[in-house]
Amino acid sequence: MLLKHLSLTDFRNFARLDIDLPRRAVLLVGSNAQGKTSLLEAVYFLATFTSFQTHSDRQLVNFVAAKENLAVGRIVGEYQRNGSSHRLEARLILEPVGMANGKRLRKEVLLDGVKRPLSEVVGHLNAVLFVPQMSQIIEGGPEERRRYLNLTLAQTVPAYARTLSEYSQALSQRNALLKQLNERGGDPEQLAYWDEILAERGAQLVLWRIQAVSELETLAKNIHDHLTRKNETLRLDYQPAYDPLPRPPGQMDLRFDTPIDRSGLGLNDIRDGFRKALRGLRREEIARGVTTIGPHRDELRFLATGRDLGDYGSRGQIRTALLSLKMAEVDWMKAKTGQWPIILLDEVMAELDLSRRADLLAYLGRAEQVLLTTTDLNLFTPEFVSQAEVWRVQAGKIVSEQWPVTSNQ
Ligand SMILES: Nc1ncnc2c1ncn2[C@@H]1O[C@H](COP(=O)(O)OP(=O)(O)OP(=O)(O)O)[C@@H](O)[C@H]1O
Ligand SMILES: [Mg+2]
Repeated sequence: MLLKHLSLTDFRNFARLDIDLPRRAVLLVGSNAQGKTSLLEAVYFLATFTSFQTHSDRQLVNFVAAKENLAVGRIVGEYQRNGSSHRLEARLILEPVGMANGKRLRKEVLLDGVKRPLSEVVGHLNAVLFVPQMSQIIEGGPEERRRYLNLTLAQTVPAYARTLSEYSQALSQRNALLKQLNERGGDPEQLAYWDEILAERGAQLVLWRIQAVSELETLAKNIHDHLTRKNETLRLDYQPAYDPLPRPPGQMDLRFDTPIDRSGLGLNDIRDGFRKALRGLRREEIARGVTTIGPHRDELRFLATGRDLGDYGSRGQIRTALLSLKMAEVDWMKAKTGQWPIILLDEVMAELDLSRRADLLAYLGRAEQVLLTTTDLNLFTPEFVSQAEVWRVQAGKIVSEQWPVTSNQ
């Protein structure tokens, strides 16, 4: 996968940017607050239509432009996928709504000039992101890990985003109905319609997650073996909230050392089991007014030699596990889509010791295109810098396209 051209309009601090990108590593160098991360954010947005920095898309629209009555932040990528050229355009439209100076943000996506639903275009352009805040995947709450799974799977499994969106809509409707049954009573059989959709879509999501976690685990474990010189063993423990193969009661204390093999499960078994479980929980869920099982409550834990890294991991252990996971994600996407994803690294070198830096750079050398940001070129070896394209980012502009490589001693 090769991003050949990127143009931005009123995106973050870029009023206007037009750049051609080469087929190799691009080092974006600059002082703080110049726009390095925003550039990576723009590319990642084309892959996932969401920001890795904020949950509020309106923050992406240039704030000077946003003072106008109507403002449109725009990201356009021209890229090659499987040898054919495509153009993907994301529009962030900040437009007036109602009487009282309110504004709302609307997203539009055009693939090759044709407007398409977001869920159909996610993953047309693939990117894997390395950022310091990815430690949240291990250290943050379970919603961080679900978000990670969703973004990774949505980019790789064509129907994932649509299925997730249908699941989420059915979930809100079902929760609204549970609340209504709780407050005003009524026939619980009304739930059957939503149970069906939830079981159908939910089973599909669980099955995809089982497969993905198991494949990612195999790849990540090998990389982790290499990074730790086999001193520790990495495990990814997927814990679905509706578990088609629950852990036997009384064996909770064994759970870290006894991986559960869910690979033989079929879609129909999971769906029927999920539907049955929802029915069994009906009374309790009406009393609580929410749906208590399903992929929206899934967990994924990371273990090193049997210890849960979220609870007990040292900073270094967590970084090594994440690096392994992220490198595995690159290989996994390549295997699934036949394309190298674009690799985006934001200030990651600064966090790593020398040998990890070398490991990472050697690994990334295999990919087709890598965009890296740094405030300090000295974090990279002279060989790497001389082979990369080095650009200076300054106040929302790329000011020199060829950086004189003299300061790297
Ligand atoms: N919507 C927006 N409109 C205009 N400017 C914005 C907007 N959002 C953020 N900025 C500004 O854009 C600048 C660039 O931010 P960015 O995070 O890309 O910098 P950076 O080069 O990665 O810096 P650092 O080295 O500190 O990470 C910052 O000054 C930020 O305040
Ligand atoms: Mg930054």
